[in-house]
Amino acid sequence: MSITKESELAGMQKISDVVAYTLKQMQEYARPGITTKQLDDYGAGILKDFGANSAPFKTYKFPGWTCISVDNEFCHGIPSVKRILKEGELINVDVSAELNGFWSDNGASFVLGEDLHGHQKLVDASKMILRKALDSIKGGVKISDVGHLIETEAKKQGYKVIKNLTGHGIGRSLHEEPSEICNFRDRFNHTRFKKNSVVAIETFISTHSNYAITLPDGWTMTGDRGGYMAQHEHTIVVTDGKPLILTAQNGI
Ligand code: CO
Ligand code: CO
Repeated sequence: MSITKESELAGMQKISDVVAYTLKQMQEYARPGITTKQLDDYGAGILKDFGANSAPFKTYKFPGWTCISVDNEFCHGIPSVKRILKEGELINVDVSAELNGFWSDNGASFVLGEDLHGHQKLVDASKMILRKALDSIKGGVKISDVGHLIETEAKKQGYKVIKNLTGHGIGRSLHEEPSEICNFRDRFNHTRFKKNSVVAIETFISTHSNYAITLPDGWTMTGDRGGYMAQHEHTIVVTDGKPLILTAQNGI
């Protein structure tokens, strides 16, 4: 969406605060021994207290309130009573929700407890790359140039990017135009970021894979060549200068 009046900005800020707070609280609540369903229930409780609705459920009938992906799962993991979190695992929580017709999206990968398997380096790289990407975005900048920056930074640190997962426009629904904000230079995309538009910028930094593939459950995605992936996501408003980070409260 494009912000045209104060009330729209207020609506977007409110739901963005809600999803950012929920993501942060879920990250703090996550601990070894609990199931991904327990973690999702905890997040669902917070969203419900604010009167917010799960965006993936409302949009796609996703079987959960939030997406929780563990270890080799990249994204869209279904909360499950069978999946018990373990120390040192790489976890991704993605929280997107709707309130009063406004939609916001954010996500974060993190290591649970002690970094037993050396995932922290990947997590730190993804976070740093998101920050650099956000710093480069303003009205008039080519979307493909930001994609190029993300891929270049990933390669510098020995990582790859996932080609078939992208950031996206957001605001009046979960996924809007521009529909594909890639993590690489898409030579066919000549679109530029527009001032006052609301977009979700997300990294998809991986150790081995270039593509995400859907598992037989119809939701969970893993890598075509296995390995791990870290994602960090903010919903922002594009300006003439540095973007306004609506989900800043998540602390990424
Ligand atoms: Co998301
Ligand atoms: Co998103």
